[in-house]
Amino acid sequence: MTAEPKKRDLLEISSLQDQDIQTIFKAAKIFSESPDQTFDLLKGITLVNAFFENSTRTRMSFELAARRVSAQILSFQSTGSSVKKGESFLDTIRNIEALKPQAIVVRHASAGSPHFLAKRIRIPVINAGDGFHEHPTQALLDAFTIQQQRGPIAGKNILIIGDIAHSRVARSNIALLKRLGAKVFVSGPPTLLPPHPEVLGVQASILPDGFLPKADVVMMLRIQHERHEGTQVPNLSEYAYYWGMNEKRAGLLKKDAIIMHPGPINQGVEIDNAVADGPLSVVLDQVANGVFVRMAVLAWVCRPENLERVVAK
Ligand code: CP
Repeated sequence: MTAEPKKRDLLEISSLQDQDIQTIFKAAKIFSESPDQTFDLLKGITLVNAFFENSTRTRMSFELAARRVSAQILSFQSTGSSVKKGESFLDTIRNIEALKPQAIVVRHASAGSPHFLAKRIRIPVINAGDGFHEHPTQALLDAFTIQQQRGPIAGKNILIIGDIAHSRVARSNIALLKRLGAKVFVSGPPTLLPPHPEVLGVQASILPDGFLPKADVVMMLRIQHERHEGTQVPNLSEYAYYWGMNEKRAGLLKKDAIIMHPGPINQGVEIDNAVADGPLSVVLDQVANGVFVRMAVLAWVCRPENLERVVAK
């Protein structure tokens, strides 16, 4: 009896070898150079976007990415589905699997839910954000954007400000950026910092201003109200005063620093409108690059040999 080939899940950054990360970046760069082109990489493949938590960017970006690599994509959102009649997460996914897609993209509010699924279904699972655990494609698109805007990540000082403790974006970015050779700093109110940041291999400070002059990249994060009970900061204007990225704080940065935010933004809380729309901001580049990176990720999962052909050209 021949063994079934091992499926490729993308559950977290550690699912990727260094070579995989470089292949995804190389392919994303090629896709970004022909942004209107449709590539014939996943012809005949059907994908499912299964979103059990709200999303704008990630869901639309996976949909567009699927179309740009010639796959069909079905979109499921738990709102308006039979989940509301009591159908379980696993039953929902098993029924979706019975429709015979070749891979599934999953977002869920519970950390570890893509891992739970990956062990129970036969098709590859791509994590589109699981609770406070990880959001690997966000980190890939963030790192790709840094490289595109400012060159190699090795040696860069990257400061992440905000709700580090509850942020899947922070967790995936720390894992990826450190692997790529960056030095990562984090800052936020004590209630929003992890209890032992040194375990993540980062340097932490409650207040960000000491880190700002040496930062090459500053990532601003939203307070993840949906992931904590009650309020973890005294009030939002006090938060904005100490941790918000405003023009005064942006003035402490190097002239060639960039400011990032994964979205959605709470303007006037973690970032002011003038900065989010200002010259240092690459927020919309992140969104645009999400499509190119996810085209590469979908091909890496479903047809790695086709992706290799793209980057070998
Ligand atoms: N960055 C991000 O995950 O945004 P959405 O929640 O809109 O998908």
